[in-house]
Order: sequence, then structure tokens, then C-alpha cells
Amino acid sequence: MIRLHLPTLAAACALAALPFSAGADELDPTGEWSAYGGGQAPLPPMGWNSWNAFYHDIDEEKVLASAQIILDSGLADAGYRYVNIDDGWWLKRDTDTGRMVIRTATFPSAATDSDRTSFRPLTDRLHAMGLKAGIYSDIGRNSCGQTFGHGNANNPAGTAAEREVGLYDHIDQDIALYFGEWGFDYIKVDGCGIRGMGADNPNVQKGIYREVTPLIDFDSIAKTDVPAVKDLFAQVGQALVKHNPDGDFLYSLCIWGSANVRSWGKEYGNISRTSEDIAPYWGRMLHNLDSASRRALYAQPGNWNDPDMLFVGTGDFDTDHPAEARSHFSLWAMLNAPLIIGYDLRKATPEQLAILGNRELIALNQDPAGNQAVLAYDTEDVQFFVKTLADGTKAVALFNRTATQMPVTLTADHLKYAADGQIALTDLWSGEASSFTGEQEFTLAPHETRVFRAAGTRALPGGMYLSEMPGRINVAEEGIDFPEPDPMIHRAIVPWQNTRSNGERPRYTGWGGARADSSPYGQMLRVADREFLTGIGVLANSRLEVRGDGFRRFSAMVGRDDSGPDDGSRVRFEVYGDGKLLGASEWMGLAEPAKPLSVDTGGAAIVELVVRGDGKTARPVPVTWGDAALLP
Ligand code: GAL
Repeated sequence: MIRLHLPTLAAACALAALPFSAGADELDPTGEWSAYGGGQAPLPPMGWNSWNAFYHDIDEEKVLASAQIILDSGLADAGYRYVNIDDGWWLKRDTDTGRMVIRTATFPSAATDSDRTSFRPLTDRLHAMGLKAGIYSDIGRNSCGQTFGHGNANNPAGTAAEREVGLYDHIDQDIALYFGEWGFDYIKVDGCGIRGMGADNPNVQKGIYREVTPLIDFDSIAKTDVPAVKDLFAQVGQALVKHNPDGDFLYSLCIWGSANVRSWGKEYGNISRTSEDIAPYWGRMLHNLDSASRRALYAQPGNWNDPDMLFVGTGDFDTDHPAEARSHFSLWAMLNAPLIIGYDLRKATPEQLAILGNRELIALNQDPAGNQAVLAYDTEDVQFFVKTLADGTKAVALFNRTATQMPVTLTADHLKYAADGQIALTDLWSGEASSFTGEQEFTLAPHETRVFRAAGTRALPGGMYLSEMPGRINVAEEGIDFPEPDPMIHRAIVPWQNTRSNGERPRYTGWGGARADSSPYGQMLRVADREFLTGIGVLANSRLEVRGDGFRRFSAMVGRDDSGPDDGSRVRFEVYGDGKLLGASEWMGLAEPAKPLSVDTGGAAIVELVVRGDGKTARPVPVTWGDAALLP
């Protein structure tokens, strides 16, 4: 939900046409965890998907061959479970019954009887192998292949009505079929049919497809019908619950970071794409990485950022590029991204299987605490990602984005470890052990990522900084007035368009969202000249839900962040435990020194951190929960 904080009546009238409305007081505490709890994603899903390997050119033999290799190679034992069919499986919709018909020329086992097709034989085989099965659909009437005119050979056939294979108008019927009757465990729901089937689509103009007024305008959030998009995805979620009485399903949202999905996807599904498609090029991998890397507070067990599937094996990540392949895999593991292989495993070399099957890296991704790595050092050249693990130790990835060698220095501060204590490192690619005190130099090869497990003396003994445990935080209200594209994401050439435009623009609303160890707009956390290496940066008019079990106190140094406007406005910080006010600051203005806010939480299950603005500003006001921590 998005609040509007309107300075004047004139502004209120000007903004009234926006697709967002201020509800009742969304800052009031609820004492509840409001992120989605359905489906099966306590850990990021792992598996295989046909798209990056075969695009539309899929068939049963390819799917089963991949499944067999996942078993035989030990990848299943390493955690890879889902075998997911992407675009290209459908023949048409039977317009008499509304039932979907499978393309039996490519999936022969689906020809179960004379007038019906079924994926049950295929899902039975996958289940008998100990694997799980995933299917693909679109929230609109038509698929991506139909919308954008790719994949013609395996696009649905027949009349315009028969070609309407997406969920639109058939949500309940299709979900009942895919899960209740066919036995799938996972669905990826794409969004092309509500994005590109407007009157300007050439195939709509030719009468091949029915026009659907686009709900998503990729380049304008104001022209995107966010409530309508949410409503469609919510309906699918409800149908999934209804047709999976055992709750064994995984719901993957694929609207590529559009429609402000960053702020609401976690209320509706288990994984949500943060960007448009990855491609097997270095720049495109950077683009997809960046779309998720500053969103650590928007992922928790049950809800994960999805920067798209792996491309290990292809192009810039093929056998000639082992450093790049290892980097891509390391970064996805650190970000708690779904580890979905997108390679024709029949061609995989032992070295490639060893990358995908690296148990140490997989253990980071599958760590039960569910903390997405936080950026401890961030430049266009080099980034350090630090992830706090369930046992209290850390993993750190030192990532060289450039094509030249980079000397770098890792410090105890990056790890939130004491500078005078010894820090033990284990290199998770080489197995080599080492240790250092204070700081340690490394030389990163071009495009290399070194990943270590690190154990040292915690800078905060006993307690945990909030920015060390993003998996326990849900950003319930982010205080953003009007969602803006994120300018920090690497703007890569879009391969399917190449340079047929005047360049790539910032995309994917999310700029100004809550951040770990950073202000919402990427500045250092700083209150009245005092810098905080650790803390949560967020806008005023925000509410964070924090899982507080296992702790008894909350403490922070709070204040308006120096990066905000000098507008005379003031903010107030409030801390709640299971819905009850435990403590609050005074109303604080810019340049007032940070004040301590420390409360006894009494072990409250949900601690809520609320910042109210006084409404006297026309611009979002960054605030800082400096050194915010839960303590025993
Ligand atoms: C895209 C989606 C891809 C793939 C493709 C199929 O929208 O992002 O991952 O599913 O559609 O046509």
C-alpha cells in the first residue's frame, strides 16, 4: 500500500488521479506479520526450467532427460527439486469446455484419451523420480510468445478464442486443472497478456488476438493499473490455496519488476521477478543482479526476490568463462535468489555440474535464517556482499564487476566483526583456509567473485543488528509517495532489441525503498553529522515489521537523516511490541542529533518500527534507525 502525504489541497487534487490511494492509518501497528505465508518457500526454490535452455523449442524428451541428469549427477541430492516447463507447452483452449489442451506432438504422454490431454503421466514420472513439477501460464489471455511474436512454431493454434491460453477469465478452472488434476507443484505466472495486447499490437490489428487494454505500462507507473494487476495475482493465489488443500505449491510472479510489484508481491506470492529477462551476457547479468541486490529488506522466508533464472553454461557463462559462471552462481546464492538452472544438462561438463552443485555455495542460499546478503561495499567496480547465517557466522562475496584485475581490502567493519579479533576465512571455491585481524587485501581477477565463510568476534556481542537479519524484517509501509524507477541498476543493452532505440532508461520502481546500512537513496546513514555504518534507512511514514522472538530489548539511535530536505518538517519514531506502544521519540527535525530509543520488548513476537511525518513537507523525508539492534 502506498500512502499519499499531501501538503496542500491543490496537490491533493493534482494527485487524486494517481492509481494509489491513502487508506486508513496504515502506520497503526497490527501486531502481525503481513507478508505472504502460503505456499512452500521457506527457502529459495531450487530446480531447472526449460526456458533459458530451449526457449519455445521444448518437448517431453528434453524435460525428462534433464530430470534424469538432475538425479544421476547428484544435483537432486544437492537440493535441486523442481523441473519446470516454461512457455511452449500449450496447443489451444477447447472453447466448448474451456479446458486447456497440451501440444501432444511434443508431449506425447499427454495424449491420455481421445478427446482430453493430461500432464498427469509426466508429473507422475517426475514425482516417482523424487522431483517436483512446475508449469507456466500468463495472467492475461495470451502468452508472451503470442504477445511479442516469438516462438511461432510452438505458439497456440486455432481461432482467436482457441489461442486464449492464459489465465484471464479462467483462473479457477486452470488452477484446478494444473494442480488438482495434473498434479503440478509450482506455477510461474507471466504478465505479457496484460502488457502488450493493446490496440497497437500488430497481431491484434490483424484480428489474430483479442485486444486487452494494457494494465501494465512498463514506462509509466502512473499509467499502470496497480490495483487491477494486484487483484488478478491475488485471484490466482486464492485459487492455488483452494486447489492445493495440502498447501504444497509454489507461486512465482513474473511481471519483471513492473507495477510497483516490489512493494506488494511479497503479500501475494513466493517469488517475484525483479527485472526483465536475463540473457547470457555479462552486462545483462549485472542488470538482473542490481535489480535485486539493494532489496535485502524485501525478501524473507516465504518471499524471495527473483532476479531470473541461471544462465550458467551459456554465452559469457560457458565453459570458456569459468570465472563468470562462478560469479553468476555465487551472487545468486548470496542473494537468496531461486537457483533455477537454465541449461541443457545433456551438454553439461563435470566442471559445470561442479559449479551448479557446489554444496558450500548452495548451503549459503539455503541457510534457514533466510537473510539475503547486504551490500557492505558498493561501487560500479567492486561490491562486497555480506550474509549473516543462522549460526551467527557470515558469508562474504568479493565481486569484481570489471574486466580488469582489482586489488581490494576487506575490513572487520564490513563483516561487523571486532577489528582486534582474529577472523577465520574459508574460501568456498578452493576450500583454502586463512585468517586475518583488522583488514586483509585480495586481488580479484577480472569478473571474479571470491566467496568466504567468515568467523570472528561480533562487534555487537549478544545482540543482532537489524541490518544483519533482513530475513526477519518486512517492510509493511515504505512511505513512498510516488514510486520511481531505480537509477542504480546497470543499464545493459537489451539483446532482443539491441541498439534500436536511444538507450536504456532506469526502470523498475523501488527507488527510495527501505535499505539495510544505507539511506533510502543510497547515501551514508548520517544524523547531524554522525555517521552510522549500521542501521536501517527508510522514509518517514513507514512501518517495518520485525520478528522479535528470542530477544528482549530493542535499541537504536534515531533521527532525520542528513540526506533529506531542509524543509522544517519533523518526524517521530515509535516502537511497538505485539501491537502495544513501547516507546517513542520526540518530534525531531533535520540536524537534531540522533537520540537513543531503547525499549524492553518483553520478547514480543512482532516488533513494529513506525516513523510518522508531520505532513509539513512536499518531499519524502529519509530517516535513520542508526545502530538498530535486537538484544537479549
Ligand atoms: C518472459 C519471461 C521469461 C519466459 C518468457 C516465455 O516474459 O520473463 O522468463 O518465461 O516470457 O515466453
